Amino acid sequence: MEKRGMMIRKDILIHFNLSSINKIYLPLIENKSRYLHIYGGAGSGKSVFAAQKILIRMMMERNHRFLLIRKVAKTVRNSQFSLIKSLIFTSGLYEYFTIKDSDLSIRNEYTKSEIISTGVDDPEKLKSIFGITSIWIEEATELEYKDFLQIDLRLRGKTRYYKQIILTYNPINSFHWLNTTIQKDSFKLKTTYKNNKYIDDEYKNVLLNLKNQDENFYNIYTLGEWGTLKNIVFKPFEILEEYPETFDEIIYGFDFGYNNKTALIKIGIKDNEYYLDELIYKEHLTNSDLILLMKELKINSTDYIYCDSSEPNRIEEFRRNGFNCLPASKNIKDGIDFIKRCKIYSNPKNEGINKEVLYYSYKQDRNGNLLDEPVKFNDHCMDAIRYAIYTHSKFRNNVNVRWL
Ligand SMILES: Nc1ncnc2c1ncn2[C@@H]1O[C@H](COP(=O)(O)OP(=O)(O)OP(=O)(O)O)[C@@H](O)[C@H]1O
Ligand SMILES: [Mg+2]
Repeated sequence: MEKRGMMIRKDILIHFNLSSINKIYLPLIENKSRYLHIYGGAGSGKSVFAAQKILIRMMMERNHRFLLIRKVAKTVRNSQFSLIKSLIFTSGLYEYFTIKDSDLSIRNEYTKSEIISTGVDDPEKLKSIFGITSIWIEEATELEYKDFLQIDLRLRGKTRYYKQIILTYNPINSFHWLNTTIQKDSFKLKTTYKNNKYIDDEYKNVLLNLKNQDENFYNIYTLGEWGTLKNIVFKPFEILEEYPETFDEIIYGFDFGYNNKTALIKIGIKDNEYYLDELIYKEHLTNSDLILLMKELKINSTDYIYCDSSEPNRIEEFRRNGFNCLPASKNIKDGIDFIKRCKIYSNPKNEGINKEVLYYSYKQDRNGNLLDEPVKFNDHCMDAIRYAIYTHSKFRNNVNVRWL
């Protein structure tokens, strides 16, 4: 038994390249506090490190039952689960693991340590989970304090190794319970993009440019300091578990990115109400990747796809590949005012939409005056939705959108 333990340790040293971990996080590998807060600016490597720490413990320690959790169970797949999974592959450790995509579980066959997943929105499952030995709460600001207390209760009893709850989040509101309640045995580390050697220049510039847009956003996402989000543009869309089976029309909104996320949103229209489906929300996709994905998604060649009009070349390439891509109206103010008057539904799977809508805010100038335009940050789904719904309404009213 012990011999095998040694082998695993050696293997870690060979495979799990510690230099791949951002330096600021290295001391946290050994941190045994019950509550480990990793918070700060965007793109600072918080989520990647949380995944790395769990993976190291999965390799070094036996019989763990880690719980991955966030507000909505369906968003765990594309965040915590996919991060740990890709880390297993990039570290060359896949031979140790059985990964089950169906129930978002991962098991190390040698240490018998496993990972299970759920969401706060599935209280029955949460209550039925037993024997948890450590937890990672991603985007912890999404949770109410009572949610956190429920989760905290799952972590009790005698365990061979230390029990820890890792909380990763951006410090969006200084009045949030994460900032105002004090838990004994907590350790808090604040990080920013400067602590992430893997940050790409384009994203770094987006963060630096927030300074010219909105001081509060700059404080939160660039400097990683507690802020207060105000001047929110939209009320959150109503969440429906199930949509109508048929629609009067289907349209799409497309916001292009590369280092930033690309968002492709499918919108079903029925009785003048809009039903959102997030099809793509991902960075590092080229046009060819997107064309393949869109073919897989069987997007009809006659359906309107309203796109970011600042990239006519990309629009043209999609058109040549058989998609009915059109430039969207550039009128942000009227577009937003129109969206505000529409009845729009989202569903729990729409991770990007449901997150962006909570924080999408109007800019404020240095004198505190509110501007008509929102801060250009985490706005990819918001833009895609506006492109589609607003421009399409103009189409229906026979206004030539190219002149808007
Ligand atoms: N150790 C690492 N090795 C390789 N790439 C990394 C590492 N840490 C971070 N990155 C890169 O930096 C990007 C940002 O990291 P991460 O998503 O962990 O940031 P974050 O702090 O969780 O951001 P947010 O506040 O937006 O959730 C990742 O998508 C990844 O590309
Ligand atoms: Mg993160």
